[in-house]
Amino acid sequence: MLHVLDHPLAAHVITHLRDKTTKPATFRTLAYQISLLLAIEATRNLAVEDKLIETPLEPMHGRVLAHSPLVVVPILRAGLGMVQPFLDIFPDVSVGYIGLERDHATAVARSYYCKLPPLAGNTVFLVDPMLATGGSAAQALTVAKENGATAPRLVCIVASPTGVAEIERHHPGTEIYVAALDRELNARKYILPGLGDFGDRLYGT
Ligand code: PRP
Ligand code: URA
Repeated sequence: MLHVLDHPLAAHVITHLRDKTTKPATFRTLAYQISLLLAIEATRNLAVEDKLIETPLEPMHGRVLAHSPLVVVPILRAGLGMVQPFLDIFPDVSVGYIGLERDHATAVARSYYCKLPPLAGNTVFLVDPMLATGGSAAQALTVAKENGATAPRLVCIVASPTGVAEIERHHPGTEIYVAALDRELNARKYILPGLGDFGDRLYGT
């Protein structure tokens, strides 16, 4: 269930994110922009309901979002760069946090933090810019399900084919939204062509 953004603006933004000369301040702005496009795409099927209103000229039946609280869960640390668009465009959002960090030698993610609001019955979005081996996202999906999420969606900026396959293997049927599906992983499990270490580029570390 992979959805890849197909929009000229998405292509423009992702190219500037990839460019190694892009500085952290611009990188953060671009991360906001691509995450906003992803947030819109990943919420395309949210329920709406009828609402009778009056325009300045006449009454009409409009449509508004049905009461369905969203929960956005960034995978720390890089996922933080994708949260703000969800807060900006949706009226009813809560935020949970899952802290995972890849070991530089093994690329295996270690859990160091977890704080989640109630997930049962809510629409849950796990956000993490990079889906490389898929280990971090697969762990986070497991945690979300253990805490009551029924069909958490995964929203990433760049994915590798390996990462997508790993999610399909451990969490079949997961809706995955990405801005780009890249070629492969290198020997150090970085995505190629990719954009490097997202967290380091976001925070200038
Ligand atoms: C990055 C990224 C993902 C993970 C992806 O985080 O944000 O969480 O790597 O790799 P995987 O698919 O192989 O698990 P990192 O562990 O570098 O931590 P950071 O967010 O603190 O920079
Ligand atoms: N994490 C990143 O930040 N970038 C990659 O390419 C892989 C994992």
